[in-house]
Amino acid sequence: MFNSGAIWVRRAFSLAMTLNEIFLIREKLLADLDQIKGTDELEAFKLAHLTRKGTIAAMFDDLRAVPKEEKPQAGKELNQLRQLVEERFTEKESTFAARRMSDHSMAAPGGVIDLTMPARTVPVNAPGHEHPLMKTLNEMIAIFERMGFAVEYGPEIEDDEHNFGKLNFPADHPARDMQDTFFVKPSAEWPKGAAAGPRHAPLLLRTHTSPVQIRLMERQKPPIRAIMPGRVYRNEAASARAGVAFFMMEGLVVDMGVSMADLKGILLSFARQFFGNDAKIRLRPSFFPFTEPSAEVDVSCFICGGQGCRVCKNSGWLEILGAGMVHPNVLTASGIDPQVYSGYAFGIGIDRTAMMRYGVSDIRDFFEGDYRFLEQF
Ligand code: DAH
Repeated sequence: MFNSGAIWVRRAFSLAMTLNEIFLIREKLLADLDQIKGTDELEAFKLAHLTRKGTIAAMFDDLRAVPKEEKPQAGKELNQLRQLVEERFTEKESTFAARRMSDHSMAAPGGVIDLTMPARTVPVNAPGHEHPLMKTLNEMIAIFERMGFAVEYGPEIEDDEHNFGKLNFPADHPARDMQDTFFVKPSAEWPKGAAAGPRHAPLLLRTHTSPVQIRLMERQKPPIRAIMPGRVYRNEAASARAGVAFFMMEGLVVDMGVSMADLKGILLSFARQFFGNDAKIRLRPSFFPFTEPSAEVDVSCFICGGQGCRVCKNSGWLEILGAGMVHPNVLTASGIDPQVYSGYAFGIGIDRTAMMRYGVSDIRDFFEGDYRFLEQF
């Protein structure tokens, strides 16, 4: 019968840890593991040996008392011991799991499948559904596609030039601080120069979808009319309102004679299709380096219709996106002549919009994979 030997092991070890002792303990643990016949014993083994308070952890603690000269070798042996025991433990665990599966399946005790057993039914009317974030995003995409926008994508690992430089963020401009950035640590194995974009700017996880505007303008001449959805990353403390990764959707229109009136028209049309026919929008002056003039765009609260309620914090308005006329420097940086062409752009946060739309108060609910939450959409 298996017996957890944590006590004697600990005593033996506190005297002096020698390689011989490590060897003996390894043999004992492996032999014990070998004897285990069921999941209860396996669980007891785990508790006795593999947890924070178990034998192996105690052996690592005791390493401190080992004479300095012996430490490297003893540490190495101990690591190997841990690895071996954990490997064998996992093997054992999966054997039991496999056995449990076949016990529950149609296999008869002899391992032969009993074809006369009734089939287990799969509910065909509940095959799952879109995640609420993708549902929100896909609806937005469909609305813009109907209005003649193409859908474009760009890389999530960007260079500084596309994420900031060509979007008219000067090198040390405080506007960069609005988007606390994850930089990609160059690997020693990368080919020379690969760690840096043009001008040796570092690589980073894009903080917004605006760099896709630049990539699009670099490869396509006007007229341009596109939306660019995707995941973006910011180094923010996780909270009910923010996470380190979220979705945004960029919009860009560049052509001759494009004006702010066109921007307003498109956004109002979008708001009506997405939030309902009564939706109104308002533009408030704002600042983004890549647009001039820039605006924050609010939509009338679709819950209270503008009267004021909990969702809109009694203002009657919900902030949904940032927008503006593409800055001439941005057009020039992308090889488009601002004397000939003009454009508008906008960027909308998908997660926040989905939260508003569905009355979700904590953004983390979207990512926990809890069916009780997901099934409601
Ligand atoms: N990139 C901005 C952000 O992440 C959003 C944005 C604002 C995009 C204005 C735009 C724009 O294209 O014109 O906060």
